[in-house]
Amino acid sequence: MNTQKNATLTLDGKTVEFPVHTGTIGPDVVDIRSLYGKTGAFTFDPGFMSTGSCMSAITYIDGDKGELLYRGYPIEQLAEHCDFMEVCQLLLRGELPTAGEKSEFVEIIKNHTMVHEQLSRFYSGFRRDAHPMAVMVGVVGALSAFYHDAMDISDQHHRDISAFRLIAKMPTIVAMAYKYGIGQPFMYPRNDLDYAGNFLHMMFATPCETYKPNPILARALDRILILHADHEQNASTSTVRLAGSSGANPFACISAGIACLWGPAHGGANEACLKMLQEIGDVSRVGEYINRAKDKNDTFKLMGFGHRVYKNFDPRAKLMRETCREVLNELGLTDDPLFKLALALEKIALEDDYFVEKKLYPNVDFYSGIVQHALGIPTQMFTGIFAAARTVGWIAQWNEMISDPEQKIGRPRQLYVGATRRDVIPVDKR
Ligand code: SDX
Repeated sequence: MNTQKNATLTLDGKTVEFPVHTGTIGPDVVDIRSLYGKTGAFTFDPGFMSTGSCMSAITYIDGDKGELLYRGYPIEQLAEHCDFMEVCQLLLRGELPTAGEKSEFVEIIKNHTMVHEQLSRFYSGFRRDAHPMAVMVGVVGALSAFYHDAMDISDQHHRDISAFRLIAKMPTIVAMAYKYGIGQPFMYPRNDLDYAGNFLHMMFATPCETYKPNPILARALDRILILHADHEQNASTSTVRLAGSSGANPFACISAGIACLWGPAHGGANEACLKMLQEIGDVSRVGEYINRAKDKNDTFKLMGFGHRVYKNFDPRAKLMRETCREVLNELGLTDDPLFKLALALEKIALEDDYFVEKKLYPNVDFYSGIVQHALGIPTQMFTGIFAAARTVGWIAQWNEMISDPEQKIGRPRQLYVGATRRDVIPVDKR
């Protein structure tokens, strides 16, 4: 970061200067940390439309170019040349691993995939029809009750162990939530399978027969994990950072991130998008829903469309669409009605003035639901898969924040518009 420029602000006749920082790429930032001290005023930016909350070297998005870089590498190249384990090391360490570093990391993760046997009892406390994300918020938060041996967040070694445990155990926890919901026995992880293959095994195998993950489908799931791994300071990552800024343990922070990701405006959009496609049902009804999305008096939004940052195509959506085709071809579902409906909806929306004018393009959630549906993953599990993927991004961002010497507890202020000071009148006199 360098600071060659200044910004000036004149307020109530007083002019003050603020340093402007320039990063390696992307917009400059005006450092307003001294604003309140110099002017007595706060900035006002609900939704953080123009606010940089931190300095980060992990992920960069260019919303106009439709570019997404993990530690400088384009997502398209990572999706083509790497697997999720390599991307995890890249996000955590800043560099792609050598073959030796990769196999060492894979072994560490494999040896942390089981959860404490007592943890499985937490599931029986939930109704069978509980939403899997409700289960995950509870179970992931409860992990902090099991790992007192590595909870000193000032110790990098403890932070590493917690990172390995979370990355390794999240698929196990997600799969257990699925199995519990359908009344099937939990499947233990298998160390002879890779990360995505093991995930499919724990989701779809039963003790009654040998399960062999389809390598094409496992590769598709691995790509879904890569595409969802990190995404700058999105709502759930900002939640993890804010929770972590108080010194909360990593399991509690990740549980907070899961809770935020659940929202339909965020990670819950893939579930909402598939339900929307099923509700639309047929291409002949697409126009009706496009009109609803444009109607200011209708709260309906086209799920899987639009993004705070991407004002061009979400590069992940393109890659997800390719993965969709691969999976449907492998499964002989090229005529899948949902996929055909999604392609038609995308085409119609991208030709509509409203969507063009508001720069509403398909985002990562638009196709991810269809791919997961084709993989046999039930709709309610989509956001759980997203959470399993984003865990490495949350942990990398949390680590970056904790190791920042300038890190402080996050504590925004406000514009107060409530009642001015007044005295209480006792109830018998009111
Ligand atoms: C994710 O931040 C991230 O990086 C998130 C994520 C990640 O990897 O972490 O990329 C994952 O959350 C992707 C987004 C998934 N959500 C959806 O698909 C839900 C539908 N999309 C919208 O809710 C919305 O587009 C957001 C939440 C994604 C973005 O909202 P913004 O940036 O606050 O924009 P906005 O809601 O103010 O919309 C701007 C305008 C509005 O119209 P006006 O008030 O200006 O007239 O566009 C309209 C909106 O009404 N609009 C839509 C729309 N999205 C925005 N109209 C119809 N359908 C939509 N999908």
